Amino acid sequence: MARKVQHSLLNKAKTNKNDEFYTQLSDIVSELEHYKNHFKDKVVFCNCDDARISNFFNYFAENFKELGLKKLISACYKRQERDLFNTEESENGSFYKYTGTKESKIKPSSEDIIYFNGDGDFRSSESIELLKQSDIVVTNPPFSLFREFVAQLVKHDKQFLIIGNINAITYKEIFKLIKENKTWLGINLGRGISGFIVPEHYELYGTETQIDDFGNRIISPNNCLWLTNLDTSKRHEDIELTKKYFGNETEYPKYDNYNGINVNKTKDIPSDYNGFMGVPITFLHKFNPDQFEIIKFRKGNDEKDLSINGKCPYFRILIRNKRVQTEFIELTKKEESQQVTKAIRNLGVNDNQQIYASK
Ligand SMILES: C[S@@+](CC[C@H](N)C(=O)[O-])C[C@H]1O[C@@H](n2cnc3c(N)ncnc32)[C@H](O)[C@@H]1O
Repeated sequence: MARKVQHSLLNKAKTNKNDEFYTQLSDIVSELEHYKNHFKDKVVFCNCDDARISNFFNYFAENFKELGLKKLISACYKRQERDLFNTEESENGSFYKYTGTKESKIKPSSEDIIYFNGDGDFRSSESIELLKQSDIVVTNPPFSLFREFVAQLVKHDKQFLIIGNINAITYKEIFKLIKENKTWLGINLGRGISGFIVPEHYELYGTETQIDDFGNRIISPNNCLWLTNLDTSKRHEDIELTKKYFGNETEYPKYDNYNGINVNKTKDIPSDYNGFMGVPITFLHKFNPDQFEIIKFRKGNDEKDLSINGKCPYFRILIRNKRVQTEFIELTKKEESQQVTKAIRNLGVNDNQQIYASK
């Protein structure tokens, strides 16, 4: 029940364009430790971050030398005071560049930051100018503008590591990028991201909220992920497959509207099936592109949700195992052709007519 409440809160943040969920340093540290080899001589841009308060800026400034960074740029939207959640409105955004030199400040004050002429929207020409000077964008962008945020990164061909809602996987623009291997899930997701600091006016309820030792109000929606195009070793680890399809066919029913089998849990993916398999979206957290190929999201040939005997299981992603042994490839082919014949018979067309029609 408590979890339901948190989900609705984050959804509300999305629809209301109320995007003030601030990332905790501990969550940044536990994700960034997997990417340390990517940052040498790079310019990092945190484009939704006030250098005076952002834990992203804080992390990169503190680890500037260790990571071998060239420059760190932080830019923020309109006015955000040091107390995190000042409600006073100002039309100008601001930015700060940290270079690791003596003159550069690891903890800049309001006197050190530079104001934009405009509001500092990540889509503004001033912010895009900074984006062009950068190599890697690392931030937690506004939930309500996630699609646009990612589209801009892709357009400018930037590397990135960003936080989003797990639902983002189901956005067609984002799924397309995942399918094409242009983006993938980072290391931590769901409960692996401990929570966000929220302003005073957020009501805290449920068991997954707390006030930390520094008085910060923390909300743990447990439905976020890291999305990236920086490679990690985890992405090349095979999913261990211990199950078999042949001999256990009844555990893997066929879809009504797609020539593939349904698999309810990632750990139950059979090692011997070379055809298409529908798996839950959590598969993407374990996805190794050397082992599997992503085919399609959610829909059958008729572009309706995948169904089994008229019922639709939860969202499925259609995948194919790239490494099935030859003997099983033959078995799968035979089974698939039987399936096609059966489907044709069900349509009331005989095999010869079908062959004639397809010539
Ligand atoms: C989810 S919060 C995260 C803040 C910060 N990146 C962090 O992780 O602590 C998103 C931030 O984006 C800012 N924001 C909202 N709309 C924006 C826009 N159009 N351009 C740039 N930043 C925006 C919000 O003010 C908010 O500070």
